[in-house]
Amino acid sequence: MLIVVDHPLVKVHISILRRQETGTDAFRQHLTALTRLLAFPALQDLQLTPISVRTPLAETTGYRVQKMLVLVPVLRAGLGMVEGFRDVVPDTVVSHLGMYRDHRTLKPIRYYSNFPASYHDHPVILLDPMLATGGSAVDALDYLKAEGARNIRVVSIISAPEGVKKLEECHPDVRVYTAQLDERLNELGYIIPGLGDAGDRQFGTV
Ligand code: URA
Repeated sequence: MLIVVDHPLVKVHISILRRQETGTDAFRQHLTALTRLLAFPALQDLQLTPISVRTPLAETTGYRVQKMLVLVPVLRAGLGMVEGFRDVVPDTVVSHLGMYRDHRTLKPIRYYSNFPASYHDHPVILLDPMLATGGSAVDALDYLKAEGARNIRVVSIISAPEGVKKLEECHPDVRVYTAQLDERLNELGYIIPGLGDAGDRQFGTV
């Protein structure tokens, strides 16, 4: 299920990310700010455990996150979304999943993964800024489910209808939170209008 996060600040940050004049530093800053905004709706149902908290004046009830969140940035573009989540969620685990797109076939190739021993009961957030063909997100979800993850959601910055369709067909149980649903993919698999290559824009490899 696709959830397009509708907030005025989401629109502002995404406009700055889209502009071709936006340099690497500004791109990273606005990507982090935008990711923080996406973390709130994506974690609306986060389970909490009540705890006792002592203020300087009295004892009261507080809360902690019940199960540590596992963030899974898809390398390399997903890295830019980690900081925004970590800013707002205490004590996260970051597990990396290395995938790249074969430029000829547009198919995702998995080359690296690093997960804690038991994360299966934990909420898993797949961070994939550009949901283009949906190939890498589908492959990542196949992998996470095969590893036993049961509570997974995807957070992306810009999605293409083609990628959303593929994800809904292959993983109808997974919610996808996105800042923007764009028009289409071009013949090279880039999202139009999009923002270009999210990895290159973050790391200056344009
Ligand atoms: N990946 C990107 O970084 N940009 C696109 O437009 C599509 C895939």
